[in-house]
Amino acid sequence: VSTAAILVAAGSGERLGAGVPKALVALGGQPMVVRAAAAFVAATTIQQIVVVAPPDCVDRLARDLGEGIAVVAGGPSRQQSVSAGLDALSGDVRVVAVHDGARPLVTPQLIDRTVAALVPPWDAVAPALAVVDTIKRVDSRGTVLRTVDRNGLWAVQTPQVSSRATLERVHARVASGVGAATDDLSLVERAGGRVLLIEGDPVNFKITHPEDLAMAQRLVAGQ
Ligand code: CTP
Ligand code: MG
Repeated sequence: VSTAAILVAAGSGERLGAGVPKALVALGGQPMVVRAAAAFVAATTIQQIVVVAPPDCVDRLARDLGEGIAVVAGGPSRQQSVSAGLDALSGDVRVVAVHDGARPLVTPQLIDRTVAALVPPWDAVAPALAVVDTIKRVDSRGTVLRTVDRNGLWAVQTPQVSSRATLERVHARVASGVGAATDDLSLVERAGGRVLLIEGDPVNFKITHPEDLAMAQRLVAGQ
């Protein structure tokens, strides 16, 4: 019986605009998903790692990641990539942590703390940060429509941890047409599951735009 990590890294990185898939973009001399994987190798709660890569990067990343880390091809949506990762897990896996390969500065401590927080009655757990800025709803031109009460609003990170059975069940519902989502917790919520957020880590931000990559490079250079 073991706990596995699925690192989804099959996106194209449209918003980063690096000209290569985001997972391959270098951070401190290694592809960013390789750096993310190193944190999961160092985490004491994780026994198996599956990296989900763009189909034409599978061989390259398998070489970079080395033995002991499985690399499989992802799909056109994040959800399909998570499903591909689920299909690649070995039989003894009971708990799964799904992580964005685009969050390369995740720490082993955050991973272990999140896995440890999955206890009854919770069906899924993820790190998150309370929103600190004032939040406004705007129209497509930026005209402010109203201010949203930020009290009780949290921005959710990964890894998102649940039992393998729960994750497979909610993904099967999606496959049978229950609608898409940008994370795995949403699927658990929709299925009526109990979801817990714990304190996240600001350093675990997602590299989405060029300025996020610049920030990550400064942090890595300063280590
Ligand atoms: N992802 C994936 N398979 C997809 C789409 C996304 O595995 N078909 C992964 C990305 O590689 C990333 C994570 O899901 O690690 C979060 O997605 P996002 O930050 O949106 O990455 P991209 O989809 O690559 O970026 P963009 O939306 O700017 O193209
Ligand atoms: Mg995307």
